[in-house]
Amino acid sequence: MRKSTENAEIFKKRRKKIIEGLNGAALIVASHPEQVRNDDVHHDYRQDSNMYYLTGFEEPESILLLRPGKNPESVMFVRKKDVERETWNGFRFGPEGTKSEFLIDAVYAIEDFQKESLELLKGFDEVYYRLFKNKEADLKIEELLLNLKRAYGRSGYGLMTVKDADTFLGEYRLKKDENELENLKRACQISAEAHVAAMKFTKPGVNERQVQAVMSHHFYMSGSARVGYPYIVASGNNATTLHYNFNDQECKKGDLLLIDAGAEYNYFSGDITRTFPVSGKFTEPQRKVYEGVLKIQKELIAYLKPGVFFKDLHEMGASRLTDLMLELGLVSGRKDDVMKANQHRKYYPHGIGHWLGMDVHDAGLYVIKGEPRPIEPGMCFTIEPGLYIPANDMTAPPELRGIGVRIEDNIVITNKGCEVLTSAVPKEIDEIEKLMAGN
Ligand code: GLY
Ligand code: MN
Ligand code: MN
Repeated sequence: MRKSTENAEIFKKRRKKIIEGLNGAALIVASHPEQVRNDDVHHDYRQDSNMYYLTGFEEPESILLLRPGKNPESVMFVRKKDVERETWNGFRFGPEGTKSEFLIDAVYAIEDFQKESLELLKGFDEVYYRLFKNKEADLKIEELLLNLKRAYGRSGYGLMTVKDADTFLGEYRLKKDENELENLKRACQISAEAHVAAMKFTKPGVNERQVQAVMSHHFYMSGSARVGYPYIVASGNNATTLHYNFNDQECKKGDLLLIDAGAEYNYFSGDITRTFPVSGKFTEPQRKVYEGVLKIQKELIAYLKPGVFFKDLHEMGASRLTDLMLELGLVSGRKDDVMKANQHRKYYPHGIGHWLGMDVHDAGLYVIKGEPRPIEPGMCFTIEPGLYIPANDMTAPPELRGIGVRIEDNIVITNKGCEVLTSAVPKEIDEIEKLMAGN
Protein backbone atom coordinates (compact mmCIF):
# COMPACT_ATOMS: atom_id res chain seq x y z
CA MET A 1 0.00 0.00 0.00
CA ARG A 2 1.19 3.49 -0.84
CA LYS A 3 1.87 5.63 2.21
CA SER A 4 1.11 9.35 2.37
CA THR A 5 4.22 11.48 1.91
CA GLU A 6 4.01 13.43 5.15
CA ASN A 7 2.82 12.70 8.67
CA ALA A 8 -0.99 12.88 8.76
CA GLU A 9 -0.87 14.55 12.20
CA ILE A 10 0.54 17.71 10.58
CA PHE A 11 -2.58 18.08 8.47
CA LYS A 12 -4.93 17.16 11.32
CA LYS A 13 -3.41 19.94 13.42
CA ARG A 14 -3.72 22.34 10.50
CA ARG A 15 -7.40 21.45 9.99
CA LYS A 16 -8.05 22.10 13.68
CA LYS A 17 -6.65 25.62 13.34
CA ILE A 18 -8.69 26.30 10.21
CA ILE A 19 -11.86 24.93 11.82
CA GLU A 20 -11.37 27.38 14.71
CA GLY A 21 -11.10 30.24 12.21
CA LEU A 22 -14.18 29.30 10.21
CA ASN A 23 -16.43 30.93 12.76
CA GLY A 24 -19.20 28.39 12.30
CA ALA A 25 -19.15 28.35 8.50
CA ALA A 26 -18.52 25.15 6.54
CA LEU A 27 -15.60 24.78 4.12
CA ILE A 28 -15.45 22.76 0.92
CA VAL A 29 -12.19 22.20 -0.95
CA ALA A 30 -12.04 20.19 -4.18
CA SER A 31 -9.06 18.37 -5.64
CA HIS A 32 -7.42 19.70 -8.78
CA PRO A 33 -8.91 18.22 -11.98
CA GLU A 34 -6.82 15.93 -14.15
CA GLN A 35 -5.78 17.63 -17.39
CA VAL A 36 -5.48 16.04 -20.82
CA ARG A 37 -2.15 16.76 -22.49
CA ASN A 38 -2.85 15.16 -25.86
CA ASP A 39 -5.26 12.45 -26.95
CA ASP A 40 -5.30 9.91 -24.09
CA VAL A 41 -2.17 11.24 -22.37
CA HIS A 42 -2.57 13.30 -19.21
CA HIS A 43 -0.31 15.94 -17.70
CA ASP A 44 1.48 14.75 -14.57
CA TYR A 45 -0.98 15.13 -11.74
CA ARG A 46 -0.41 17.63 -8.94
CA GLN A 47 -2.94 18.08 -6.15
CA ASP A 48 -4.63 21.45 -5.55
CA SER A 49 -2.49 23.36 -3.04
CA ASN A 50 -5.35 23.93 -0.59
CA MET A 51 -6.43 20.29 -0.71
CA TYR A 52 -2.88 19.20 0.04
CA TYR A 53 -2.49 21.90 2.70
CA LEU A 54 -5.49 20.51 4.60
CA THR A 55 -5.17 16.76 4.00
CA GLY A 56 -1.87 15.66 2.41
CA PHE A 57 -4.12 13.66 0.05
CA GLU A 58 -2.85 13.48 -3.53
CA GLU A 59 -5.62 11.82 -5.54
CA PRO A 60 -7.91 13.58 -8.03
CA GLU A 61 -11.73 13.37 -7.86
CA SER A 62 -11.80 14.10 -4.15
CA ILE A 63 -13.57 16.68 -2.00
CA LEU A 64 -12.98 17.78 1.60
CA LEU A 65 -15.80 19.16 3.76
CA LEU A 66 -15.12 20.74 7.16
CA ARG A 67 -18.03 21.21 9.60
CA PRO A 68 -16.92 23.21 12.66
CA GLY A 69 -18.35 21.89 15.91
CA LYS A 70 -20.26 19.02 14.28
CA ASN A 71 -19.75 15.28 14.28
CA PRO A 72 -18.21 14.23 11.95
CA GLU A 73 -16.17 17.43 11.74
CA SER A 74 -13.93 16.45 8.82
CA VAL A 75 -15.44 14.57 5.88
CA MET A 76 -13.92 13.46 2.60
CA PHE A 77 -15.29 12.06 -0.64
CA VAL A 78 -12.80 10.00 -2.64
CA ARG A 79 -12.60 7.47 -5.47
CA LYS A 80 -13.66 3.94 -4.56
CA LYS A 81 -11.18 1.09 -4.66
CA ASP A 82 -11.28 -0.47 -8.13
CA VAL A 83 -9.04 -3.42 -8.91
CA GLU A 84 -9.14 -2.91 -12.67
CA ARG A 85 -8.50 0.85 -12.60
CA GLU A 86 -5.78 0.38 -10.01
CA THR A 87 -4.09 -2.24 -12.23
CA TRP A 88 -3.90 0.38 -15.00
CA ASN A 89 -3.41 3.63 -13.13
CA GLY A 90 -2.11 2.77 -9.70
CA PHE A 91 -3.14 2.54 -6.08
CA ARG A 92 -6.14 4.32 -4.60
CA PHE A 93 -6.68 4.72 -0.86
CA GLY A 94 -10.46 4.34 -1.13
CA PRO A 95 -12.79 5.57 1.65
CA GLU A 96 -11.48 3.21 4.35
CA GLY A 97 -7.81 3.78 3.57
CA THR A 98 -8.32 7.55 3.44
CA LYS A 99 -10.07 7.56 6.81
CA SER A 100 -7.31 5.64 8.57
CA GLU A 101 -4.25 7.04 6.76
CA PHE A 102 -5.31 10.69 6.66
CA LEU A 103 -7.17 10.78 10.00
CA ILE A 104 -10.45 12.02 8.54
CA ASP A 105 -13.58 11.56 10.68
CA ALA A 106 -15.79 10.18 7.90
CA VAL A 107 -14.99 9.26 4.29
CA TYR A 108 -17.46 8.34 1.53
CA ALA A 109 -17.20 7.40 -2.13
CA ILE A 110 -17.23 10.46 -4.39
CA GLU A 111 -20.40 9.06 -6.05
CA ASP A 112 -22.23 9.65 -2.75
CA PHE A 113 -21.33 13.33 -2.53
CA GLN A 114 -24.85 14.70 -3.21
CA LYS A 115 -26.66 12.33 -0.92
CA GLU A 116 -24.31 12.65 2.06
CA SER A 117 -23.39 16.32 1.83
CA LEU A 118 -27.04 17.38 1.60
CA GLU A 119 -27.46 16.06 5.14
CA LEU A 120 -24.02 17.20 6.29
CA LEU A 121 -24.54 20.83 5.22
CA LYS A 122 -28.05 21.27 6.59
CA GLY A 123 -28.10 23.96 9.26
CA PHE A 124 -25.10 25.92 7.94
CA ASP A 125 -25.68 29.52 6.82
CA GLU A 126 -22.40 29.94 4.98
CA VAL A 127 -19.94 27.79 3.13
CA TYR A 128 -16.43 28.68 1.97
CA TYR A 129 -15.71 27.33 -1.52
CA ARG A 130 -13.56 28.53 -4.43
CA LEU A 131 -15.69 28.75 -7.54
CA PHE A 132 -14.42 28.37 -11.12
CA LYS A 133 -11.26 26.37 -10.43
CA ASN A 134 -12.69 22.96 -11.17
CA LYS A 135 -15.74 22.82 -13.49
CA GLU A 136 -16.77 19.35 -12.43
CA ALA A 137 -16.65 20.28 -8.75
CA ASP A 138 -18.55 23.53 -9.48
CA LEU A 139 -21.39 21.50 -11.02
CA LYS A 140 -21.53 19.32 -7.93
CA ILE A 141 -21.68 22.38 -5.65
CA GLU A 142 -24.37 23.99 -7.83
CA GLU A 143 -26.51 20.87 -7.55
CA LEU A 144 -25.87 20.65 -3.82
CA LEU A 145 -26.84 24.28 -3.16
CA LEU A 146 -30.03 23.90 -5.19
CA ASN A 147 -30.90 20.65 -3.39
CA LEU A 148 -30.33 22.33 -0.04
CA LYS A 149 -32.63 25.20 -0.97
CA ARG A 150 -35.28 22.71 -2.11
CA ALA A 151 -34.87 20.73 1.09
CA TYR A 152 -35.83 23.82 3.13
CA GLY A 153 -39.17 24.05 1.24
CA ARG A 154 -40.86 27.40 0.72
CA SER A 155 -39.05 29.33 3.44
CA GLY A 156 -38.29 32.42 1.39
CA TYR A 157 -34.56 31.93 1.83
CA GLY A 158 -32.29 31.95 -1.20
CA LEU A 159 -29.14 29.91 -1.66
CA MET A 160 -26.63 29.35 1.12
CA THR A 161 -24.02 32.13 1.08
CA VAL A 162 -20.80 31.08 -0.67
CA LYS A 163 -17.61 32.84 0.46
CA ASP A 164 -14.25 32.57 -1.27
CA ALA A 165 -12.27 29.72 0.27
CA ASP A 166 -8.98 30.68 -1.38
CA THR A 167 -8.96 34.17 0.13
CA PHE A 168 -9.78 32.71 3.54
CA LEU A 169 -7.14 29.95 3.39
CA GLY A 170 -4.58 32.29 1.82
CA GLU A 171 -4.27 34.24 5.07
CA TYR A 172 -3.27 31.05 6.90
CA ARG A 173 -0.88 29.95 4.17
CA LEU A 174 0.82 33.35 4.10
CA LYS A 175 2.45 32.94 7.51
CA LYS A 176 4.45 29.73 7.47
CA ASP A 177 4.50 27.43 10.50
CA GLU A 178 7.46 25.25 11.46
CA ASN A 179 6.60 22.38 9.14
CA GLU A 180 5.88 24.68 6.19
CA LEU A 181 9.16 26.52 6.73
CA GLU A 182 11.06 23.27 6.90
CA ASN A 183 9.63 22.22 3.53
CA LEU A 184 10.21 25.62 1.95
CA LYS A 185 13.79 25.72 3.23
CA ARG A 186 14.46 22.28 1.76
CA ALA A 187 12.94 23.38 -1.58
CA CYS A 188 15.18 26.45 -1.56
CA GLN A 189 18.24 24.39 -0.65
CA ILE A 190 17.67 21.88 -3.48
CA SER A 191 16.99 24.74 -5.90
CA ALA A 192 20.17 26.56 -4.83
CA GLU A 193 22.32 23.46 -5.26
CA ALA A 194 20.91 22.93 -8.75
CA HIS A 195 21.73 26.53 -9.70
CA VAL A 196 25.32 25.98 -8.58
CA ALA A 197 25.44 22.74 -10.64
CA ALA A 198 24.12 24.66 -13.67
CA MET A 199 26.80 27.34 -13.28
CA LYS A 200 29.49 24.69 -13.04
CA PHE A 201 28.18 22.94 -16.16
CA THR A 202 27.67 25.95 -18.42
CA LYS A 203 30.20 26.80 -21.10
CA PRO A 204 30.00 27.98 -24.70
CA GLY A 205 28.33 25.42 -26.97
CA VAL A 206 26.04 23.76 -24.41
CA ASN A 207 22.33 23.88 -25.13
CA GLU A 208 19.88 25.61 -22.78
CA ARG A 209 18.03 22.29 -22.56
CA GLN A 210 21.16 20.52 -21.34
CA VAL A 211 21.55 23.08 -18.58
CA GLN A 212 17.92 22.41 -17.66
CA ALA A 213 18.68 18.67 -17.58
CA VAL A 214 21.53 19.22 -15.11
CA MET A 215 19.10 21.03 -12.82
CA SER A 216 16.29 18.53 -13.15
CA HIS A 217 18.72 15.67 -12.42
CA HIS A 218 19.67 17.38 -9.19
CA PHE A 219 16.02 18.07 -8.30
CA TYR A 220 14.95 14.46 -8.69
CA MET A 221 18.05 13.04 -7.03
CA SER A 222 17.36 15.27 -4.01
CA GLY A 223 13.79 14.14 -3.44
CA SER A 224 11.92 16.82 -5.34
CA ALA A 225 8.85 15.50 -7.16
CA ARG A 226 8.68 18.26 -9.75
CA VAL A 227 9.42 21.93 -10.40
CA GLY A 228 7.33 24.70 -8.88
CA TYR A 229 6.89 26.38 -12.31
CA PRO A 230 8.33 25.96 -15.82
CA TYR A 231 12.09 26.38 -16.17
CA ILE A 232 13.36 29.60 -17.72
CA VAL A 233 16.82 28.91 -19.16
CA ALA A 234 17.41 31.94 -21.35
CA SER A 235 20.71 32.77 -23.01
CA GLY A 236 21.54 36.08 -24.65
CA ASN A 237 18.57 38.05 -25.90
CA ASN A 238 16.16 35.27 -24.79
CA ALA A 239 16.58 36.63 -21.27
CA THR A 240 14.66 39.76 -22.29
CA THR A 241 11.51 37.61 -22.71
CA LEU A 242 10.28 37.37 -19.12
CA HIS A 243 8.70 33.93 -19.28
CA TYR A 244 10.90 32.48 -22.05
CA ASN A 245 10.52 28.70 -21.92
CA PHE A 246 11.60 27.21 -25.24
CA ASN A 247 14.94 26.50 -23.54
CA ASP A 248 16.42 24.97 -26.70
CA GLN A 249 19.08 27.38 -27.95
CA GLU A 250 22.85 27.08 -27.89
CA CYS A 251 24.55 29.13 -25.17
CA LYS A 252 27.08 31.32 -26.93
CA LYS A 253 30.40 32.79 -25.81
CA GLY A 254 29.91 36.44 -24.92
CA ASP A 255 26.25 35.98 -23.88
CA LEU A 256 24.73 35.95 -20.43
CA LEU A 257 22.57 33.04 -19.28
CA LEU A 258 19.55 33.84 -17.11
CA ILE A 259 18.11 30.85 -15.22
CA ASP A 260 14.88 31.13 -13.26
CA ALA A 261 14.09 27.71 -11.76
CA GLY A 262 12.88 26.23 -8.50
CA ALA A 263 12.32 22.73 -7.17
CA GLU A 264 9.17 21.75 -5.35
CA TYR A 265 9.58 19.82 -2.10
CA ASN A 266 6.51 18.45 -0.32
CA TYR A 267 4.48 20.96 -2.34
CA PHE A 268 6.64 23.99 -1.43
CA SER A 269 8.56 25.76 -4.17
CA GLY A 270 11.86 27.59 -4.40
CA ASP A 271 12.04 30.45 -6.93
CA ILE A 272 15.61 31.47 -7.73
CA THR A 273 17.03 33.51 -10.60
CA ARG A 274 20.69 33.89 -11.37
CA THR A 275 22.31 35.53 -14.38
CA PHE A 276 25.89 34.70 -15.30
CA PRO A 277 28.20 34.77 -18.34
CA VAL A 278 28.25 31.64 -20.53
CA SER A 279 32.03 31.94 -20.84
CA GLY A 280 32.49 32.52 -17.09
CA LYS A 281 33.64 36.15 -17.43
CA PHE A 282 31.41 39.27 -17.55
CA THR A 283 32.03 41.77 -20.37
CA GLU A 284 32.22 45.45 -19.33
CA PRO A 285 28.65 46.37 -20.41
CA GLN A 286 27.25 43.18 -18.80
CA ARG A 287 29.15 43.99 -15.62
CA LYS A 288 27.70 47.52 -15.49
CA VAL A 289 24.10 46.27 -15.75
CA TYR A 290 24.66 43.31 -13.42
CA GLU A 291 26.41 45.32 -10.71
CA GLY A 292 23.61 47.91 -10.80
CA VAL A 293 20.86 45.31 -10.38
CA LEU A 294 22.80 43.44 -7.68
CA LYS A 295 23.35 46.60 -5.64
CA ILE A 296 19.62 47.33 -5.69
CA GLN A 297 18.72 43.75 -4.76
CA LYS A 298 21.09 43.85 -1.78
CA GLU A 299 19.78 47.25 -0.64
CA LEU A 300 16.23 45.95 -0.70
CA ILE A 301 17.11 42.83 1.26
CA ALA A 302 19.00 44.91 3.84
CA TYR A 303 15.84 47.00 4.34
CA LEU A 304 13.63 44.00 5.21
CA LYS A 305 12.18 43.65 8.69
CA PRO A 306 8.76 43.22 10.28
CA GLY A 307 6.58 46.27 9.71
CA VAL A 308 7.96 47.19 6.28
CA PHE A 309 5.21 47.52 3.64
CA PHE A 310 5.43 45.30 0.58
CA LYS A 311 4.12 48.22 -1.44
CA ASP A 312 7.16 50.29 -0.37
CA LEU A 313 9.47 47.56 -1.60
CA HIS A 314 7.80 47.76 -5.02
CA GLU A 315 8.22 51.53 -5.05
CA MET A 316 11.83 51.41 -3.87
CA GLY A 317 12.65 48.81 -6.53
CA ALA A 318 11.08 50.84 -9.33
CA SER A 319 12.74 54.05 -8.13
CA ARG A 320 16.23 52.57 -7.79
CA LEU A 321 15.97 50.74 -11.12
CA THR A 322 14.95 54.00 -12.77
CA ASP A 323 18.11 55.61 -11.31
CA LEU A 324 20.08 52.79 -12.90
CA MET A 325 18.35 53.26 -16.26
CA LEU A 326 19.25 56.96 -16.17
CA GLU A 327 22.84 56.11 -15.28
CA LEU A 328 23.07 53.60 -18.15
CA GLY A 329 21.51 56.00 -20.65
CA LEU A 330 18.44 53.82 -21.25
CA VAL A 331 16.08 56.68 -20.42
CA SER A 332 16.71 60.39 -20.16
CA GLY A 333 15.19 63.50 -18.58
CA ARG A 334 13.97 64.10 -15.06
CA LYS A 335 13.44 60.96 -12.99
CA ASP A 336 9.95 62.05 -11.88
CA ASP A 337 8.88 62.58 -15.48
CA VAL A 338 10.31 59.23 -16.55
CA MET A 339 8.42 57.45 -13.79
CA LYS A 340 5.20 59.40 -14.27
CA ALA A 341 5.20 58.48 -17.96
CA ASN A 342 5.96 54.86 -17.03
CA GLN A 343 9.01 54.89 -19.29
CA HIS A 344 10.87 52.72 -16.80
CA ARG A 345 8.32 49.95 -17.32
CA LYS A 346 9.85 49.35 -20.74
CA TYR A 347 12.97 47.86 -19.12
CA TYR A 348 11.48 46.66 -15.82
CA PRO A 349 7.94 45.48 -16.51
CA HIS A 350 7.33 43.26 -13.43
CA GLY A 351 7.05 43.70 -9.67
CA ILE A 352 9.82 43.44 -7.09
CA GLY A 353 8.58 40.12 -5.70
CA HIS A 354 5.67 38.02 -4.53
CA TRP A 355 4.62 35.71 -1.69
CA LEU A 356 6.25 32.31 -1.96
CA GLY A 357 5.04 28.93 -0.69
CA MET A 358 3.01 26.05 -2.05
CA ASP A 359 2.25 28.13 -5.14
CA VAL A 360 5.18 30.00 -6.60
CA HIS A 361 3.03 33.14 -6.60
CA ASP A 362 1.62 32.16 -3.26
CA ALA A 363 -1.72 32.77 -1.59
CA GLY A 364 -2.35 35.71 0.74
CA LEU A 365 -3.54 39.30 0.50
CA TYR A 366 -1.12 42.09 -0.42
CA VAL A 367 -3.66 44.77 0.42
CA ILE A 368 -6.32 44.61 3.13
CA LYS A 369 -9.45 46.66 2.50
CA GLY A 370 -7.50 48.99 0.25
CA GLU A 371 -4.67 49.47 2.76
CA PRO A 372 -1.17 48.06 2.16
CA ARG A 373 -0.20 45.44 4.72
CA PRO A 374 3.06 45.32 6.68
CA ILE A 375 5.22 42.21 6.44
CA GLU A 376 5.31 39.96 9.51
CA PRO A 377 7.55 37.17 10.86
CA GLY A 378 6.88 33.89 9.04
CA MET A 379 5.96 35.53 5.73
CA CYS A 380 8.03 34.30 2.78
CA PHE A 381 8.55 36.07 -0.51
CA THR A 382 10.98 36.80 -3.32
CA ILE A 383 13.07 39.88 -4.05
CA GLU A 384 13.79 39.94 -7.78
CA PRO A 385 14.79 43.20 -9.47
CA GLY A 386 15.68 42.95 -13.15
CA LEU A 387 16.56 44.96 -16.24
CA TYR A 388 15.79 43.74 -19.76
CA ILE A 389 17.12 45.45 -22.87
CA PRO A 390 15.87 43.76 -26.08
CA ALA A 391 18.39 43.33 -28.92
CA ASN A 392 16.11 45.23 -31.29
CA ASP A 393 15.74 48.27 -29.01
CA MET A 394 17.25 50.94 -31.27
CA THR A 395 17.00 53.62 -28.59
CA ALA A 396 19.25 51.77 -26.10
CA PRO A 397 23.05 52.23 -26.12
CA PRO A 398 24.26 49.60 -28.66
CA GLU A 399 26.58 47.82 -26.20
CA LEU A 400 23.65 47.15 -23.82
CA ARG A 401 21.27 45.64 -26.39
CA GLY A 402 20.42 41.97 -25.81
CA ILE A 403 21.26 42.05 -22.09
CA GLY A 404 18.69 40.73 -19.63
CA VAL A 405 19.53 40.48 -15.92
CA ARG A 406 17.39 39.34 -13.02
CA ILE A 407 18.62 38.34 -9.56
CA GLU A 408 16.06 36.61 -7.37
CA ASP A 409 16.36 35.32 -3.81
CA ASN A 410 13.85 33.81 -1.39
CA ILE A 411 13.28 35.36 2.00
CA VAL A 412 11.59 34.57 5.28
CA ILE A 413 10.85 37.41 7.67
CA THR A 414 12.14 36.77 11.18
CA ASN A 415 11.43 38.60 14.46
CA LYS A 416 14.25 41.07 13.89
CA GLY A 417 14.86 41.11 10.14
CA CYS A 418 15.01 38.40 7.54
CA GLU A 419 16.76 35.23 6.50
CA VAL A 420 17.80 34.68 2.89
CA LEU A 421 16.99 31.05 2.10
CA THR A 422 18.87 30.94 -1.19
CA SER A 423 22.22 32.51 -0.35
CA ALA A 424 24.07 29.28 -1.23
CA VAL A 425 24.05 30.33 -4.90
CA PRO A 426 26.74 32.92 -5.57
CA LYS A 427 25.63 36.28 -6.91
CA GLU A 428 28.75 38.45 -6.44
CA ILE A 429 30.66 38.83 -9.72
CA ASP A 430 33.98 37.55 -8.36
CA GLU A 431 32.28 34.55 -6.71
CA ILE A 432 30.55 33.60 -9.97
CA GLU A 433 33.71 34.04 -12.02
CA LYS A 434 35.70 31.99 -9.53
CA LEU A 435 33.12 29.20 -9.50
CA MET A 436 33.03 29.06 -13.30
CA ALA A 437 36.78 29.31 -13.80
CA GLY A 438 37.13 25.54 -13.64
CA ASN A 439 34.48 24.86 -16.38
N1 GLY B 1 9.51 32.31 -11.66
C1 GLY B 1 8.41 33.17 -11.67
C2 GLY B 1 8.70 34.38 -10.92
O1 GLY B 1 9.85 34.69 -10.65
O2 GLY B 1 7.82 35.08 -10.51
MN1 MN C 1 9.57 35.05 -8.56
MN1 MN D 1 11.46 33.32 -10.56
